[in-house]
Amino acid sequence: MVHLARSRPIAVPPVETDKLIAELNALAAISDCPEPPPAVTRVVFSETDLRARDYLRSLYEAAGLEVRVDPIGNTFARWPGADPAAPAVGTGSHCDAIPHAGMYDGTVGVLGGLEAVRALKRAGFTPRRSIDVIMFTSEEPTRFGVGCTGSRAMSGAMAPTDLARLTDETGDDYDTVRQRAGFAGDLAGVALPAGAYHAFVELHIEQGPELEAANLPIGVVMAIAAPAQAEFVVTGEGGHAGAVLMPRRRDALSAAVEMIAAVERLALSSKSPDLVATVGRLAVHPGAVNSIPSRVGFSLDLRDIDGANRDAVLAAIEEETDAIASRRVVKVERRVLNADPPAACAEKIVDAVRRSAESLGLGYQQMISRAYHDSLFMARVAPMGMIFIPCRGGVSHRPDEYSSPEAIRAGVETLALTLAELAS
Ligand code: GLV
Ligand code: MN
Ligand code: MN
Repeated sequence: MVHLARSRPIAVPPVETDKLIAELNALAAISDCPEPPPAVTRVVFSETDLRARDYLRSLYEAAGLEVRVDPIGNTFARWPGADPAAPAVGTGSHCDAIPHAGMYDGTVGVLGGLEAVRALKRAGFTPRRSIDVIMFTSEEPTRFGVGCTGSRAMSGAMAPTDLARLTDETGDDYDTVRQRAGFAGDLAGVALPAGAYHAFVELHIEQGPELEAANLPIGVVMAIAAPAQAEFVVTGEGGHAGAVLMPRRRDALSAAVEMIAAVERLALSSKSPDLVATVGRLAVHPGAVNSIPSRVGFSLDLRDIDGANRDAVLAAIEEETDAIASRRVVKVERRVLNADPPAACAEKIVDAVRRSAESLGLGYQQMISRAYHDSLFMARVAPMGMIFIPCRGGVSHRPDEYSSPEAIRAGVETLALTLAELAS
């Protein structure tokens, strides 16, 4: 029975958790991972990504939402409000998944956003503002090296020409790949018109251990950390593993190993405890057991709540890698792919999330997001907020990532009430 109160349009949104979990499982089955679900791999603009999009569209249509797809595949499923001209309220997340990922990262925000809307509909709620469930294209950097391409372009943080020029490992550019995947139209049409959104709120698993440790169901996000990504290429001299004596070598991998150790050392000695540095990808050329590596590429992922400190550590890494290259007589080239500032959540959304959790009797804590999200960019075009739910052991970006049905339900109920308030 839905209780209509003056201050709260709905007491407890009638969330259908079993249906939502079944949909999360069905989406997880659309995967390129060689391991079975819950292991998931779903890379942007792959056949699998397109099948996942078809599945989502079928759910949006079954829910009676109006679907719009922009020229790069950002998908907006709209529940029109009573005042369709008023700036809308947005929610949503991403459905791409890094190689060997879990099944909850991003998907809980998309399918949970959809279920929040369905629950509000079931409750007989009528929003004044339209509510959009957004599925952002390629939050993960897997294919093009840069994360959040969909929200970057929507928010104007990345120009269409820069977006078009991003290339994948095979050398294909973003513009070609998105068209091959069936997404057409001028890239200039991706940027949102000013004032399109009154508010944006994203539901996401925490991807860290804090909520579980505190035994709290809801995290009210206050800010999102500043991420930077860079690529390094070290060039030395190859040769026969038996014939070239050690003093004469200019081994690109040995130099890269020293550089990677320096990255870890500089991160550990950073003045900010929130600074984290990860080298997650290494490519060794020619990659033969009996050949001295002549060229090595490695990635760098660097983050901090303090953007200035993140930049200072990046500069120190550049200096240190130059020094190592010069001592080892190799060449190091670097390309910073992105170095984004942190984003603060808007007070009005933080307050709405807090009020929603309180009215549901759910304990919460305020926290920062150490992972990045499309919300980092939506903050540039709308007041932004995020709702976190706990995940087991704080584990994410791994197949054993897990959030319980109860945790997901609490998150969707909180999201539904937050959307109802923001859209009223
Ligand atoms: C997003 O997936 C991130 O790496 O923070
Ligand atoms: Mn992720
Ligand atoms: Mn995510």
